[in-house]
Amino acid sequence: MKNTMTMIDNRTGKSYEFDIQDATRGPSVVNISSFYAQTGMFTYDNGFTSTASCKSKITFIDGEKGELRYRGIKIEDLAPKRSYLETCYLLLNDRLPDEQELLKFDLELRHRSLLHENLKNIFATFPTGAHPMAALSAATAALSTFYYSHLDISDENGYQEMARRIIAKMPTLAAFAYRHSIGAPFIQPDIDRSYTENFLYMMRAYPGGKMHHGINGERKIKAIEIKALDTIFTLHADHEQNASTTTVRGVASTGAHPYVAISAGISALWGRAHGGANESVIKQLEMIGSVENVDKYIAKAKDPNDEFRLMGFGHRVYKNFDPRAKILKNLQDQLKDELNLDSNLMNIANKIEEIALADEYFISRKLYPNIDFYSGVILTALDIEKSMFTPIFVIGRTVGWITQWMEFKKDKEKKIARPRQLYLGK
Ligand code: CMC
Repeated sequence: MKNTMTMIDNRTGKSYEFDIQDATRGPSVVNISSFYAQTGMFTYDNGFTSTASCKSKITFIDGEKGELRYRGIKIEDLAPKRSYLETCYLLLNDRLPDEQELLKFDLELRHRSLLHENLKNIFATFPTGAHPMAALSAATAALSTFYYSHLDISDENGYQEMARRIIAKMPTLAAFAYRHSIGAPFIQPDIDRSYTENFLYMMRAYPGGKMHHGINGERKIKAIEIKALDTIFTLHADHEQNASTTTVRGVASTGAHPYVAISAGISALWGRAHGGANESVIKQLEMIGSVENVDKYIAKAKDPNDEFRLMGFGHRVYKNFDPRAKILKNLQDQLKDELNLDSNLMNIANKIEEIALADEYFISRKLYPNIDFYSGVILTALDIEKSMFTPIFVIGRTVGWITQWMEFKKDKEKKIARPRQLYLGK
């Protein structure tokens, strides 16, 4: 049996043959790279619902089964069992680190977490109140000016160093973007704190390093808060060829600097159909206001003449459940008593979930709660402003973007991204 697919043009009766390539997991692909040469036509796939844009060995999603794997390992075996830094090491190196390797990796990231003093001036040019996502995208692009000569790197060591540097600096950039947005002085990273703790520290501390957080005036960052945020980072670490990763690969395909490619990824993530959904979910829950109003908004979401959508519901790939959402829902239940979870927001969210999961509109379209439906309530309990929800997604996803960039650079079949079009103009 030949591993090919034959297509017939019913207008002419001519047939064309294309190779089928099998995947190690998931659907096979039909290689249509010779389609134009053979047929003189292009293929049309609006929104890339059926198109594989690359070959990859990093992350795998089975949307029907609700399965997510990083480098072959199921997400349930990583979050919350392994730390975010172990997950970063796994994505970058295709294996989990041993104790010594993790220690070395952790120390290097701590050392690299500082920003060049001149980079701070970038933030000063933005108005107070600037959305941290806009500032973060701009500051990440600006980072490329400090590491410009590194554009010529072409070996594994160079790629890995580029990766470790941006992973280390992203929490500092994000915290600075936040502090600028509220007109507060920047807090430099503290080398004695872990990756995730350091981010909370830079968000909360007063100059001199003191913290006064929470209604009881506790000064510490609680271990449970670090664990919750670390799990959120791990769940966001990579997600195969989504809109922002495709953007990063697209910019990388022109040979541009990787930090500019990541800056473009940050911009792509900002939209509410993608990473911006976590901020929109909480805004929507606040707008709904009380459990009594839920029915009205469910009706709006179902109305084909109303553009209103339930934020945090639906996914292009997951058609059963989002495994990341399941982990976060468990985490939310565990945290309920230990952290100050907003019970009104949780009640509204629970009611929406209950109604939607039993409603024909959502069932028939396979619309389930996604990761963003749950992350906001947890982040709110960590005293994090809504405007920082998507920057937190950025921190988690930076490792995924840079790993995908490295894979692209090493791909012997790489080509500039240059889709075609169906022209319908004059
Ligand atoms: N509320 C109400 N209806 C919806 C929703 C929703 N959240 N999502 C999809 N639909 C309907 C949509 O109207 C359409 O109905 P019909 O067939 O009658 O026209 C049908 O479901 C299919 O929708 P689609 O827009 O063609 O699906 P898609 O795969 O192109 O879009 C999505 C996926 C995530 C953009 C979309 O579900 C959505 O807008 N969700 C809300 C935003 C959100 O939560 N985004 C976060 C995604 S997870 C984080 C990440 O990885 O970025």
